[in-house]
Amino acid sequence: MTSFLINLSFQGKTVALTDVTTSTTGTDLHRMALVAFSMEDGASLKLLYKGKRLDQEDDTSPIFKVVPKKAPKILVMATSSSQISDLQSKRSDPTIRGFDQERTTVQKKELHWGPTTSQDKNYKFCRFQACTWQSFGHRPTDGETPHAFEAMQLLEKLATDPGIVAIMKERELVVGTLGEMDPIDDRLMQTKQQQGACLLGYNTNGGMRIDLKLRRDDLKGFRPYTEIMATLIHELSHNWVGEHNLLFWTNFGQMRAEYVHTHLRLRSTVVAGKTTAELAGLKLETNNVYDFVMQELQKDMAQHGLHPNMIASPIEQRCRELDETHGGQKLGSLVVGSTDLTATSRPATARDLALAAAEQRAKEQKNNGKSSQS
Ligand code: NI
Repeated sequence: MTSFLINLSFQGKTVALTDVTTSTTGTDLHRMALVAFSMEDGASLKLLYKGKRLDQEDDTSPIFKVVPKKAPKILVMATSSSQISDLQSKRSDPTIRGFDQERTTVQKKELHWGPTTSQDKNYKFCRFQACTWQSFGHRPTDGETPHAFEAMQLLEKLATDPGIVAIMKERELVVGTLGEMDPIDDRLMQTKQQQGACLLGYNTNGGMRIDLKLRRDDLKGFRPYTEIMATLIHELSHNWVGEHNLLFWTNFGQMRAEYVHTHLRLRSTVVAGKTTAELAGLKLETNNVYDFVMQELQKDMAQHGLHPNMIASPIEQRCRELDETHGGQKLGSLVVGSTDLTATSRPATARDLALAAAEQRAKEQKNNGKSSQS
């Protein structure tokens, strides 16, 4: 469904909301407005659109029948000014620091990607778990390592990345825990392996839990966001396919295409002066999603002795589907030959993936061993 932009205006401040669609209801918008202006859940708001009130909390009918040509402006008014000023005074009161800090956390989390971005209600990561340096049993020799609090924020940023939210929804995924991999454990693994390929993530029991290596080897900072994100998508791909075979890479490549396509569609969304692609560290020199993904795959697959030309058709097809689904937002000319692709190939369908997952589970039961993959 095509999302579009609306502007919310409150006390002279305007916040642009993206992710509004023709199925957005009054209730949705009410919630978005509370988040956009950092108000408490209970705060009572009045939303005015074209002189009409949209503020009923139980209003479940869509507001916009069609995609508006121009970004609609919605006026937000607080019906109870006491609640707002009450909140403000609480914030500036130094004696209730706990509350204040908690509030800040919530706001920062929401603001990684702008006020309207959050995980899907149903398809999401349910819990987050970071390592504290006490749990490493080891401190960096000099300097510091990021606090567990920052690691939590990073995990939340990954989970609410619009590209990841799109993937989770599209594939109806639920992951129990998104966790930080123990950096010490990882080091042991590395010395054990010594084979060049380092261990950057785990998937336990088909996505019940995913752990990612967040910190750099010297522990002084985090790995680049783009790399952690690529690892997350890699681990999600292991939900269906355990081995690094062609089906695995097809699935991975299609998810990468969904990820990049989402950020390209959001190019007009600016959060704190940056596009979401910039916030995600995506260097998109081309708006050709297919080329971008294939280039990436070439590097990743080479480590496993494979080449993306083997899966070019299903990747290309997925890119075309994305263009069609989000019609009118075509991102650029994809290199599409005149040959009929349908006869020779098709993308990994949900059924293919389900089959692969079932085979994987059967194999694991036979081996009766651990079912973690990297
Ligand atoms: Ni792997």
